[in-house]
Amino acid sequence: MSNKVNIGLIGFGTIGSGVVKILHSRKAFLKKKTGVEINIKRICDKDLKSRRIVKVRSSLLTKKADDIINDSSIDIVVELIGGVHPAKEIIEKSLRKGKYVVTANKALLCEEAESIFAMSKTLGKDIYFEAAVAGGIPIVKSIKEGLIANKFLGIYGILNGTSNYVLSLMAEKDCSFTQALEEAKKKGYAEKNASLDVEGIDSAHKISLLCYLAFGKIVKVKDILVEGINRISSLDIRYAKELGFKIKLLAIAKKDKDKLEVRVHPTLIPEGNLLASVDGVYNGICLSGDLTGRLFFYGKGAGRFPTASSIVSDIVELTKNIKAGLFKSDINIIEDKSVKLLEKTGEFQSRFYVRFMAIDKPGILAKISGVLGDFGISIASVTQKERKFAKAVPIVMITHIAKEEPLKKAIKQIDNLSIVKEQTVAIKMEDI
Ligand code: HSE
Repeated sequence: MSNKVNIGLIGFGTIGSGVVKILHSRKAFLKKKTGVEINIKRICDKDLKSRRIVKVRSSLLTKKADDIINDSSIDIVVELIGGVHPAKEIIEKSLRKGKYVVTANKALLCEEAESIFAMSKTLGKDIYFEAAVAGGIPIVKSIKEGLIANKFLGIYGILNGTSNYVLSLMAEKDCSFTQALEEAKKKGYAEKNASLDVEGIDSAHKISLLCYLAFGKIVKVKDILVEGINRISSLDIRYAKELGFKIKLLAIAKKDKDKLEVRVHPTLIPEGNLLASVDGVYNGICLSGDLTGRLFFYGKGAGRFPTASSIVSDIVELTKNIKAGLFKSDINIIEDKSVKLLEKTGEFQSRFYVRFMAIDKPGILAKISGVLGDFGISIASVTQKERKFAKAVPIVMITHIAKEEPLKKAIKQIDNLSIVKEQTVAIKMEDI
């Protein structure tokens, strides 16, 4: 058996060029560790003109994915183009051609989980996806291998680097959401379509994959309660801080007996919690195993080299498996049919941070709290801020545990009052 494994890379952008750079510059280092030469046989991208951080022979480059898929000497296809199509077709064709697959494509794995994983199992060809969740943090391997003896109880994750960077910058510079997002885009953290990041969809894709790994349950984005950070203002971040909280876009999966609850939304968490100290492009994951208790993972969740590090780790592992003649396709991920996903209904309850913008006149507070009372919402604390705004003052309330549906109805009624000058903001709270 030759001591070489050939790689075909599809997608030579930010992450792809990082992978090539690592595989070139650490070729001898990786060979020493694995005993195998990892050789990049072909690279495909629709743009072959742009300058990259690494130079490659032009004979390696192609615009046609089929040049890689149909090359029988290629053992592993690394798909880094993102999006569902044509990535799905590329991966399926590659598996059918007997290739192993590495991908960072969380959207595809989440939306097409059943068919892709089933095909990988049937054909006996692994599909690895460490880089799909939390960039450089080896969370997939940790759940699949390091923590295999555990039954998992809950996952709380800051899984989107862009949103976390945006929230952190808004807090630090007191800037607007739009300004902060522009910065995140410049740094190359955001998806091509940044609304995936800030509307919570990217986090939903990632928590869905973690649910599959940890609970054996395939959860679709449409079944997850998802809210983004686009309506959070630096005002809310500041007021939350004054109350001893930070606002984070949290992806949450909690299991109680056979019930699984999965949601993604901006969340006020106590400042003292470890997740609250995860700032900038960093990701943080708090995972509860029944044997280990709580574990905390922290690291860069986006960016060229952290993500490329995870992809190379998958390539190396597959390389070792190929040489050992092993097929390990998610052998330890057993679909657990007994797990039932809780529906996203108005039954959801938590404490809420609520900010009203109302005119500053006697009796206003009584009117607002009256409507809340009518809907059974109990207020734990109220602060009225100094008048700095032309027309209205912010009134910040923390509720006791309340059901979301009646709160929404109460807010709708309050927002229709002429004393309220802006749409009210309500943010969920979580005692982690
Ligand atoms: N856009 C993603 C993020 C990249 O910001 O986390 C990594 O998946």
